[in-house]
Amino acid sequence: MYEAALKRPFFILAPMDDVTDTVFRRVVRSCAAPDLFFTEFVNADGLQSPGRIKLLKKLRFTAKEQPLIVQIWGKNPDNFFKTAQQIADGTFAHELGLPGDVNFAGVDLNMGCPQKSEVRNGTCAALMNNRSLAAQLIQATQEGLAGRLPVSVKTRLGFDKKDLSWPEFLLSQNINMLTIHGRTKIQMSKVPADWEAIGHIRELRDRIAPSTLIIGNGDVKNKQHGLQLAKAYKLDGIMVGRGILHDPFAFASKSSWGLYTKKQKLELYQKHVKLFNETWKREERPVYTLNKFCKIYVNGFDEAKELREQMMKMKTIEALLDSIEKELQKLV
Ligand SMILES: Cc1cc2nc3c(=O)[nH]c(=O)nc-3n(C[C@H](O)[C@H](O)[C@H](O)COP(=O)(O)O)c2cc1C
Repeated sequence: MYEAALKRPFFILAPMDDVTDTVFRRVVRSCAAPDLFFTEFVNADGLQSPGRIKLLKKLRFTAKEQPLIVQIWGKNPDNFFKTAQQIADGTFAHELGLPGDVNFAGVDLNMGCPQKSEVRNGTCAALMNNRSLAAQLIQATQEGLAGRLPVSVKTRLGFDKKDLSWPEFLLSQNINMLTIHGRTKIQMSKVPADWEAIGHIRELRDRIAPSTLIIGNGDVKNKQHGLQLAKAYKLDGIMVGRGILHDPFAFASKSSWGLYTKKQKLELYQKHVKLFNETWKREERPVYTLNKFCKIYVNGFDEAKELREQMMKMKTIEALLDSIEKELQKLV
């Protein structure tokens, strides 16, 4: 079980849909590795449908991104059971072409995503208002895993207001880990994360579920910042999401990103694009999906904005790689 091997507090790269794919996870690892990775969220109902093959890209990983937790969402307990079973017995890892000794380290259930389509469909954050289904989904996952891998939940402080009865309910479900994003569903990302509330949930954990790990999440910039929060609120771990988009070395004890030259930044982008090119077929992830990463690397030097705009117009990977290479040649 991953948790036994991790020092406290440990650091997690947050799941971010269409961002933290196998490629970006490897780039982050090459800069400064977190202690634990998550996949993007993947729909368990879709995984048990004819759409499975298309969704496998969300699960793709290599032995370098470990330990790695799969995050699932959906609404059908049977599909959670089957998905959990197939994660634990290595079926998915096998379908992804991984060697027999490489597998996921755990299963996380998304009960916090506030997106309209998911909530309208009764999934993710909507489960806060449907606790009997939330309990069924957790139980089905636990039964599918049969003790072979840990189960965790990632959620928010409440639906329309902070509601401690929700984490209290989750902590009574015998889960291994609970990640709290310190905002309610309706707050989306519009207000600062409430770390006092995360601290209260940790106190609740101490009283009712001492063996469940508590992870805090929301607005953490980097490891130093996370260490302060973990100490102040006595947390087992810290999850960092958008912070990594401002500093790929966010998990380093001391980040060197501020000292990176234009050349070093462009070389890191080149590495990202090359890995992307080796990993994805065009129909799986088109070239424009790289645009959201461009701002990480093509930033903080003279005329970065103009260069970024130019690179974001590239229609093929080859043209993008060519444009990065030409820019690097100018710096020789
Ligand atoms: C682009 C994007 C995609 C996200 N996708 C997921 C997801 O798939 N699963 C999930 O639990 N949270 C998802 N989140 C939420 C993050 O994991 C995290 O909880 C949130 O960004 C707050 O942490 P931060 O302030 O460190 O970014 C996503 C956030 C962003 C910005």
